Amino acid sequence: MLAKRPPLGWNSWNTFGDRISDALIREIADYMVSEGYRDAGYEYLVIDDCWSLRERDENGLLVPDPKKFPHGMKAVADYIHSKGLKFGMYSCAGVMTCAGYPSSYDHEYTDAATFASWGVDFLKYDFCNFPETGNCRVRYQTMSMALKATGRDILFSACNWGRQEPWRWMASVGAQMYRSTGDIMDNYVSFTGIFKSQLDNFCMSGSGCFNDMDMLTVGMGGKGNVGLGKVCTYEEYRMQFSLWCLAGAPLMMGADLRSLSPEYVSLMQNNDLLRIDQDEECRPPYLIRRGAVTASNPEPKEGEFPWRQIPDSAFTFFRHLSGGEFALAYVNFSDAEAQIHCELVDLGLPVTSGYALELRDVYTGETLGAKTDFFNPTVPGHDMKLYLCRLVKQP
Ligand code: GLA
Repeated sequence: MLAKRPPLGWNSWNTFGDRISDALIREIADYMVSEGYRDAGYEYLVIDDCWSLRERDENGLLVPDPKKFPHGMKAVADYIHSKGLKFGMYSCAGVMTCAGYPSSYDHEYTDAATFASWGVDFLKYDFCNFPETGNCRVRYQTMSMALKATGRDILFSACNWGRQEPWRWMASVGAQMYRSTGDIMDNYVSFTGIFKSQLDNFCMSGSGCFNDMDMLTVGMGGKGNVGLGKVCTYEEYRMQFSLWCLAGAPLMMGADLRSLSPEYVSLMQNNDLLRIDQDEECRPPYLIRRGAVTASNPEPKEGEFPWRQIPDSAFTFFRHLSGGEFALAYVNFSDAEAQIHCELVDLGLPVTSGYALELRDVYTGETLGAKTDFFNPTVPGHDMKLYLCRLVKQP
């Protein structure tokens, strides 16, 4: 079965855009192995848009740009496979890709066969330049069938940006993941907006077909194709990675793995975080509380209080994991430090139950002992706390 758990890998778009080549892809493959990503579970190496010539050949086939890929795509695939990785490519359901290259509308069966002949294992299928008269569901279903017809296992990563509520139907056309939002940018506002926009859809994501909140920008530091706005801090990138793991989302790294600082290498290979993301039960997180951070208002105007409420800024989540474990998250989306409240009764654990939650901090490894009644940690602005928990008898 493809995508029993959320797919993990790397995609060229966020950092490189059209600056892709045979040499770059081979280097990334090398780094995925030498820096431990492959062994941590990152499997797919995906070339995004801008890999082909601007025209099909005389037989109507897509042609890799010989300047970028002088040995063709089969050679790239063979190299990636020789490293124990899987190879992903990109096309689009419209008449041209987003960057204006030929795409697969009315060429689905030809292109799927081409991809299969190169040894492709994953297809990201975009939505630009889609004809107004076209039927989106039919076109994704058509490419899905064309991929099946090749007889090769090709993971279908359907990227229609959340148009026409894909969480309601993408699983039914055979896709293994569906992009649920517009493009991520490498800044705090972008990734927090994406996460919040999907809160109601996490229940429509799971084994076989996952909600894809877009490629990660973790560690990019504003240097790349989707750099826009204020550069993220370490804590903000840690929040992005943790939220994607909490949601059980596909993790497609977007940073330049050749120059990533060590703290991001360990973040994206953190065993606890990956274990949460990859949990075999693939359950969505349970939203315990969606509250407001109370921040100080040092110079209140007349009629104002010396504090202010920031709506939709303090979130608590609980996620059931396999083996009797749980994840508990306190997210502070505001700028201000805050104590975030969680009454354990709100996650089904009244004091009278006789049970407590034993917590371990995922980021520090610290064990906090058994909690009953409530647990209200203080969380800096733009940061979160994440705990792995177990039920124990009350002390
Ligand atoms: C769209 C997609 C992006 C990327 C670009 C490539 O914007 O959403 O993820 O694939 O196209 O042009």
